[in-house]
Amino acid sequence: MAKLMEIMGHFPFEPDEKRPMLIRKEDYSTALYPPNNAFTSDNTFTLITTDTFMLGIYELGPGGVFAPLDIHPGDESYYILDGPVLQRSGNGQFAYLETGEGLWMPEGAWHCCHNFSDHKARILYFITPKAWSESIPPAVIPTEEETKFYKGPNNANLPDMREHIQDISRQGCTDDIGHFPVDPEGPRKTGAVYAVRDFEKLNNIHGTKHPMLMRFITSNDYGHFGEFILPAGGYGPRCSDPDSHKGDGALYCVEGPVTVNLTKLQESFVVEEGNCFFLPAGTEYQLVNFEGKPVKMIFAVTEL
Ligand SMILES: [Fe+2]
Repeated sequence: MAKLMEIMGHFPFEPDEKRPMLIRKEDYSTALYPPNNAFTSDNTFTLITTDTFMLGIYELGPGGVFAPLDIHPGDESYYILDGPVLQRSGNGQFAYLETGEGLWMPEGAWHCCHNFSDHKARILYFITPKAWSESIPPAVIPTEEETKFYKGPNNANLPDMREHIQDISRQGCTDDIGHFPVDPEGPRKTGAVYAVRDFEKLNNIHGTKHPMLMRFITSNDYGHFGEFILPAGGYGPRCSDPDSHKGDGALYCVEGPVTVNLTKLQESFVVEEGNCFFLPAGTEYQLVNFEGKPVKMIFAVTEL
């Protein structure tokens, strides 16, 4: 498959060729990351990389970790497809994330991920606005030894994070959309990361006559990431109300299949589990459920 750095920003299309597109898992671009040392790599599947975001999946074998530490000039959010995993942050935070849980990492936070389980771990990630830049990652990358951890030799040189990590247990509300799990400005300076447990997701509803559950993992000025859960049953198939977004986005099918209906274009696509759909800015769409069970898609949208 193509080299990751060569497709960065233009897979599976050039930014000026964006169009609604079903992207099947067979078509994801595969790579070892980092590419120069399989001993410490994860198995990376790039779903989409364009000028507004990157969406991918990475796998870690049991006992595995990727090295060196990773960093981005944009925020990164996770949805854990197969956990648990332990996300290590350079500032000394360790987030233990179970299947279905989420994570928000602000731009500039050093991180890597460990798999202490007995099976392969899989993580869906969304990075926006940029995953890579000329200066990030920098030429010199800290080693794990230089990060903060139990009896770490460098601990005294790194900031005490306790006062920088907010409690996110307050009941969420509609006004939290755009500010979840916390306002991003502070964490983008301190590197504070937030695990978002299943019960901590920011719940809301899209549509009153045809309600669809929305469960945000993250929502801020860089992007929005979470779950759409469309129940089964109705007169005809169950459909969500049409919606469109100001920014580019993607839908990843976790429990399906889900039909994505482009209401204005009158074209529809069946998105099977593990496949995804690219939604260019402004595309009007609805989700359609023909199954006898609720279906679930992860949404990754740069501007609602
Ligand atoms: Fe990363």
